[in-house]
Amino acid sequence: MIRFYHVTKIYKSKNYALQDITITIHPREFCFLTGPSGAGKSTFLKLALGEETPTSGQVLVTGRNLQTITHSEFPYFRRKIATVFQDFRLIPTRTVFENITILLTLQGYSQSEMRKRAFDTLRLVGLQSRMEAFPEELSGGEQQRVAIARALISKPHLLLADEPTGNLDPELAHEIMRIFQEINATGTTVVVATHDKSLITAFSGRVIVLAKGKLIDSGE
Ligand SMILES: Nc1ncnc2c1ncn2[C@@H]1O[C@H](COP(=O)(O)OP(=O)(O)OP(=O)(O)O)[C@@H](O)[C@H]1O
Ligand SMILES: [Mg+2]
Repeated sequence: MIRFYHVTKIYKSKNYALQDITITIHPREFCFLTGPSGAGKSTFLKLALGEETPTSGQVLVTGRNLQTITHSEFPYFRRKIATVFQDFRLIPTRTVFENITILLTLQGYSQSEMRKRAFDTLRLVGLQSRMEAFPEELSGGEQQRVAIARALISKPHLLLADEPTGNLDPELAHEIMRIFQEINATGTTVVVATHDKSLITAFSGRVIVLAKGKLIDSGE
């Protein structure tokens, strides 16, 4: 699902953000990506998303080599990859339904299909009764769950989450991890970057450890 082959990333600062990383994340795996601040976790996810390019080495995701992918193929590549970030930004003037179906609208789905998908996805995060609410009418944890629903509605093959529970109290953080595990059980590969050790010990999964840009433990 994700293969890094001798990947090095150096930003302008000339420090190694990632140094000679070779690792494979297999389809259907549930992985934590952990390590101290500055370890390279976010950089790893950005490279897997094609948002950053490696200084050297190869990145393969869902069978595509990101170094050879063309501009026109890129949106199609991204369609089956979902992201959840700490800064989840819902559109304040749009309802929950509208927020989570924006991409489906662009892909030409019918209203009835979108309603059905929105209901099913919101049920997964326990918010099916809030479809017509506006973001400001929801708590922070509920908004985060809407952001997760937005990520999941296109039935992604791969879910990449960067500190998705960073702003949440421990109970909600655990609830979100349970949702991720349910998604994983349906076949989606999940990679969660976090430095929250209590989450990692509470949930089973492969634990990949980075420190100062180096792979300390591949978790295999
Ligand atoms: N856009 C950038 N330009 C220059 N340096 C960067 C950039 N992004 C990250 N870095 C540097 O690369 C290294 C790895 O950063 P990264 O954000 O990947 O770490 P992280 O493990 O996600 O840390 P955190 O836990 O704080 O989120 C750090 O030294 C950081 O300062
Ligand atoms: Mg980070």
